Amino acid sequence: MSFVLFVVRNIVEHGTLSRQTAEEPQTMIRLGINVDHVATVRQARGIDVPDPVEAALLAEKAGADGITVHLREDRRHIQERDVKLLRQRARSKVNLEMAVTPAMVKFAAKLRPDDACFVPEKRQELTTEGGLNVVAHKKKIMDAVARLENRGIHVALFIDAVAAQIECAKEVGAHAIEIHTGTYCNATGTRREKERRAIIAAAQLAHRFGLEVHGGHGLNYENVMPIANIPEMVELNIGHSIIARAVIVGIEQAVREMKQLLARARG
Ligand code: PXP
Repeated sequence: MSFVLFVVRNIVEHGTLSRQTAEEPQTMIRLGINVDHVATVRQARGIDVPDPVEAALLAEKAGADGITVHLREDRRHIQERDVKLLRQRARSKVNLEMAVTPAMVKFAAKLRPDDACFVPEKRQELTTEGGLNVVAHKKKIMDAVARLENRGIHVALFIDAVAAQIECAKEVGAHAIEIHTGTYCNATGTRREKERRAIIAAAQLAHRFGLEVHGGHGLNYENVMPIANIPEMVELNIGHSIIARAVIVGIEQAVREMKQLLARARG
């Protein structure tokens, strides 16, 4: 694709140049800020502050390329009000993380976020544990992907760095995969490098299939660079570490610091 065509297609599709595709050479990696834990603090008191939408708008001002929210079935942090308001007010990409349930697919089809990311969801978990098993739930996921892609929503599947899951992600028609980086983040020493190599192999395979490659879960200021410098990665979605840092230095500074690391990883 020529550069001019790429520019025109992005402006027509998204009104901006913020989305890159797997086939385009790219230098800077996109940073999606997950603001769920701003809502966690709000929900702890059951009042209306701090507002995750206000945090999202400040994150955008500081250079966030997108905002991610996970509307969980138990509504433990993000609420429907947050997602609807974010859809109206965000200027960057809105990425809705969601379980593959009829109610969530209906909600997303109506709301039309830019992107949706299907994740597994268990009531008892502290945060998302493990990737989606696309192989085991192929038909259900294929139908849900088609429903959202038909509404112009790009669908990513949050999966482990496993070849069979990536092949199946391609078969069900996903636009992207988000590689679960949690195992890498939790590992230390040579084990961490082994996990990183698995992520690299997964990213290369997905790229060969024409899938966009994203990454997320557990990434922080200390462990992000070896993932951000994987050339096939076009987007990282990061939440807890940035919101935790924001409590100390403010969200704009926390976002800027992460952006600087991503820039250095690609420098
Ligand atoms: N990507 C996905 C699919 C997730 O479920 C989460 C957690 O909500 C994240 C990224 C962000 O993870 P963290 O909060 O550990 O940065």
